[in-house]
Amino acid sequence: MGTPTDQFNRPLRDLRISVTDRCNFRCPYCMPAEVFGPGHAFLRDPQLMKREEILRIVAAFRTLGVEKVRLTGGEPLLRGDVPELIRGIKQLGIADVALTTNGWLLEKLAPALRAAGVTRLNVSVDSLDDVTAGKLNGLGFKVSRVLRGIDAAAAFGVPIKINCVVQRGMNDHELPALCSYFRERGHALRFIEFMDVGNTNHWSADRVVPAKEIVGRINALWPLEPIGPAYRGEVASRYRYCDGRGEIGLISSVTEPFCRDCHRARLSADGKLYTCLFASLGWDVLSALRAGADDAELARFLARIWRGRMDRYSDERAEVLAAGEARTKIEMSYIGG
Ligand code: GTP
Ligand code: 5AD
Ligand code: SF4
Ligand code: SF4
Repeated sequence: MGTPTDQFNRPLRDLRISVTDRCNFRCPYCMPAEVFGPGHAFLRDPQLMKREEILRIVAAFRTLGVEKVRLTGGEPLLRGDVPELIRGIKQLGIADVALTTNGWLLEKLAPALRAAGVTRLNVSVDSLDDVTAGKLNGLGFKVSRVLRGIDAAAAFGVPIKINCVVQRGMNDHELPALCSYFRERGHALRFIEFMDVGNTNHWSADRVVPAKEIVGRINALWPLEPIGPAYRGEVASRYRYCDGRGEIGLISSVTEPFCRDCHRARLSADGKLYTCLFASLGWDVLSALRAGADDAELARFLARIWRGRMDRYSDERAEVLAAGEARTKIEMSYIGG
């Protein structure tokens, strides 16, 4: 089967798979504790894709041109079979299998992840200060344990990127401390603009620190120069420190959207395919598989969905918000960012 392109001529290159909708953190910008409390209905086990099912779906995506797979959650490391999953995906011939994690379980799991062949890790660190970090993860958990996890993974030589969601008045005073800490250790630090994902995270434009402002503030301390993308459609715009010691990235979905080159498909933990992080509806791939679709039928189903794709939410955001249009969007913890 040829590699499909969507309605804006974008090919399908990356598959991001949420392996669980659960998380051990309650970051207010993603899973506010008052919404994701004891009464919240998480997916039940029979609804979750089993490992063999994930592998069959990935194999179908591979025939359509997918070259990179990223495992996300919720928190993916809450699922016990992540190392086996990584191994299985690599065996299908996908060379790049990455993981996005909050790092809480990383110190313990780094050896197994490395043995499974994980190619890249993205770890979230919003603050280096235990009090602020505790507020930002919603449960008072100390960031020191996450930092130990990062060191453990780095010791194995796995390339690590750090994700930091910046919110004005919450953690933007820590930009210099974060930059110095991570450049000393050689990890690319990416600042993410606070996004209006989901329906419950109390997003407001006042709390977004525009990427340009972040670059300006860091540049005043350590001069920066822009560098080109590592590959076409890279989400982060990259800058290097002129002193040659490291780089940062800016993920500016709000102020400088990057939908034009978006070649990412997202699979939820219950096997629904979403063609945008801000989508409302997904296509039920798992049910098709469980109803007996063979590999060719599965690939045709996925290709048809991709060919019809028209998503460009971040490009349209300003109009959507200005029109006061109330869209129901999927939650970040369900689809994995
Ligand atoms: P690679 O492309 O594999 O390097 O990963 P990445 O940079 O996309 O990884 P990661 O999962 O760490 O994403 C970092 C942040 O970028 C997360 O907050 C994502 O939600 C955001 N992001 C990633 N892809 C998209 C996208 O397609 N649209 C928007 N709006 N945000 C995205
Ligand atoms: N805006 C921006 N980034 C977010 N993330 C979760 N919720 C949001 C949001 N509302 C980030 C996490 C993690 C990545 C996968 O997505 O902090 O680093
Ligand atoms: Fe969990 Fe990540 Fe969401 Fe925080 S941002 S609640 S760590 S899934
Ligand atoms: Fe892709 Fe949707 Fe993000 Fe645009 S908003 S870059 S279409 S996931």
